[in-house]
Amino acid sequence: MNGEITFWPSGRSIKVKPGTTLLDAARRANVPIKTRCGGKAACFMCKVTVRPGSELQPISDNERRKLAGMDGSHIRLACQARAAGKVDVEVPLDPLRAAVARQLARQAEEDGNLW
Ligand code: FES
Repeated sequence: MNGEITFWPSGRSIKVKPGTTLLDAARRANVPIKTRCGGKAACFMCKVTVRPGSELQPISDNERRKLAGMDGSHIRLACQARAAGKVDVEVPLDPLRAAVARQLARQAEEDGNLW
């Protein structure tokens, strides 16, 4: 059975073989996920949120150790989490884009209050 990974908020989707890491799929789908360690589970920059119901292979002992304390939060390391089927992944905005989005939302709210 092949898998399909959809990245949010862009909605980009890509078909993958089971066992493909979320990071490899993101690269193939042209979805930017920051990394510094090259996928060695060392930098934590590739943290993503996996939506409930997503089909992933069991978490490895290494990734579980790295994410200690975040159990139940659906946060995974994109370089370690591997697809088993259909997966929906929330990719955090980079800090500059997030700041711009917040400013635009604030401005829209203020403009709306003028009427
Ligand atoms: S790429 Fe560094 S922890 Fe995943």
